[in-house]
Amino acid sequence: MTTIILHWLVALLIVAAFALGTVMTDMRISPAKLQYYSWHKWLGVTVLALVGLRLLSRLSGTAPAYPDSMPAWEKQAARGTHALLYLLMLAVPLSGYFYTLAAGYPVVYLGLFELPVLIGPHPELKHFLKTLHATLTYIMLALVILHVAAALKHYFIDQDGILQRMLPGK
Ligand code: HEM
Repeated sequence: MTTIILHWLVALLIVAAFALGTVMTDMRISPAKLQYYSWHKWLGVTVLALVGLRLLSRLSGTAPAYPDSMPAWEKQAARGTHALLYLLMLAVPLSGYFYTLAAGYPVVYLGLFELPVLIGPHPELKHFLKTLHATLTYIMLALVILHVAAALKHYFIDQDGILQRMLPGK
């Protein structure tokens, strides 16, 4: 059940961080824009913490096996996509975090406490990290679309119960 809650919570927070990230960068400078930047960072840091937890539980336990009806190439593709998604779910928030620090701003989580300032202001790194953050985010989006398409294929075409395994009460 913990895995199911973490899966859907992280999915929701990623969608919210993505939407806010897209909207806020297009806004004119205003108090609302600054507020959205803060919310975006808090959502992203929460994703990082929850994905860390999810990885720990995934690595310490065993994931349910794929059904025998699934061809070997599909199992391999699923494993590869999941590994890449985990990597990106860490790399996207980390690149945003380091971009913020390189731009010279601390990250004050929920407006309550300052998270570690691991690097100082760095003009060149700042540009690189900004591009990296946006690029990794769009690669992650493409993988999320593939992930959702695969889940829908299992539900509607293969009808092998894979999607239902990630639903509460199953
Ligand atoms: C799952 C987590 C995250 C997602 C999906 C995400 C997504 C995005 C997106 C879509 C943008 C707009 C990119 C563009 O088109 O230019 C963006 C920008 C930004 N993100 Fe994130 N982000 C995440 C985490 C973080 C974190 C943890 C931080 C910092 C603590 C952060 C800081 C920023 C900043 C400062 C910008 C604005 C860059 C600019 O001014 O152009 N992000 N993010």
